[in-house]
Amino acid sequence: MLLSWTVVNEPWKAPTEADKLSNPLANDPKAMTKGRKLFDAYCWVCHGATGKGDGPSAAALKVRPAALHSALVQSQTDGAIFWKVTNGRGEMAPYVHSLSDAQRWALVSYIRSLKE
Ligand code: HEC
Repeated sequence: MLLSWTVVNEPWKAPTEADKLSNPLANDPKAMTKGRKLFDAYCWVCHGATGKGDGPSAAALKVRPAALHSALVQSQTDGAIFWKVTNGRGEMAPYVHSLSDAQRWALVSYIRSLKE
């Protein structure tokens, strides 16, 4: 299989329009648990069980994903994180087709819960 991604070395910034999106599940107490289940199914292989970037597939990545609990990620808006999960970049696939909007927002709620 031909792998067609290109590795981008610049820091990954979501477009500023993404900052205007707000998480419709922000006040839903179940969103974090739903997001954790999705994370454990789709994301942990690269991002690691607790989002530190140490999953079993991480060693094979050319770009090390940022630790999701870090200030670099947590200082971004919910909309920016949602946009990244939606669109992907390089070795991280876009999830726009494989996960619904609600599932991607639940993942944002879970990622927020990792904040130290
Ligand atoms: C195949 C490995 C892989 C999988 C699976 C994966 N990611 Fe990623 N992820 C990456 C890589 C690599 C990056 C860094 C991409 C870059 O900077 O070019 C990344 C970056 C991110 C970022 C941006 C962090 C930042 O720098 O702001 C978020 C948020 C994220 N991933 C969430 C998720 C979620 C949620 C899932 C599951 C739905 C997921 N990822 C699945 C590899 C993966």
